[in-house]
Amino acid sequence: ELDPRIKEVKDLIEFCPDFPKPGIVFQNLFPVLRNPKVFQGLIDVLVEDIKSKHPDVDVIIGLDSRGFLFGPLIALALNVAFVPVRKKGKLPGETHKVEYSLEYGKDSCEIQKNSIQPGQKVIIIDDLLATGGTMKAACDLMEAAEAKILSCMVVIELKFLDGAKKLKYPLLSYIS
Ligand code: PRP
Ligand code: ADE
Repeated sequence: ELDPRIKEVKDLIEFCPDFPKPGIVFQNLFPVLRNPKVFQGLIDVLVEDIKSKHPDVDVIIGLDSRGFLFGPLIALALNVAFVPVRKKGKLPGETHKVEYSLEYGKDSCEIQKNSIQPGQKVIIIDDLLATGGTMKAACDLMEAAEAKILSCMVVIELKFLDGAKKLKYPLLSYIS
């Protein structure tokens, strides 16, 4: 049964055929952020789900860049830390680094070594799971940091791409 707050989110997603490349149907979540009631409803659903399933979470990990739209709001609501995974070359000091491929390209991402302690329990958040390459890379970074992944979380899961199969951890998704 679809939560009515998620139904409202679903109705605001913009579908953009052949963006950013031919054959890709880009799903744009930014219209949701233009509607504070619907945006708040989405954040509330994500926070409630974490409170019920993972009340022991220590850190919310947000993925560059659209994971940054949701992660800090969720972390504040839960009164836990927020830590960013960033694309290469953006974080100072010592980092863990992994390369990955995504639905329309290749990239690498990093996390600051001092931003997470071994044994900390984390949830990784992004807007959308496509091939799963980005989320898998983030999981690899968490393993390098010796963090414990409770769950991966995305608003939208493109099920036809089977990205969840790449992940060794539970995936929470709300729209597919
Ligand atoms: C998009 C999206 C996810 C990723 C999903 O980010 O926000 O992070 O792709 O694709 P995947 O499951 O195939 O890895 P993108 O790399 O376009 O960067 P952006 O957030 O900076 O727009
Ligand atoms: N990231 C990867 N694939 C995407 C898609 N189809 N829509 C929005 N973001 C994406």
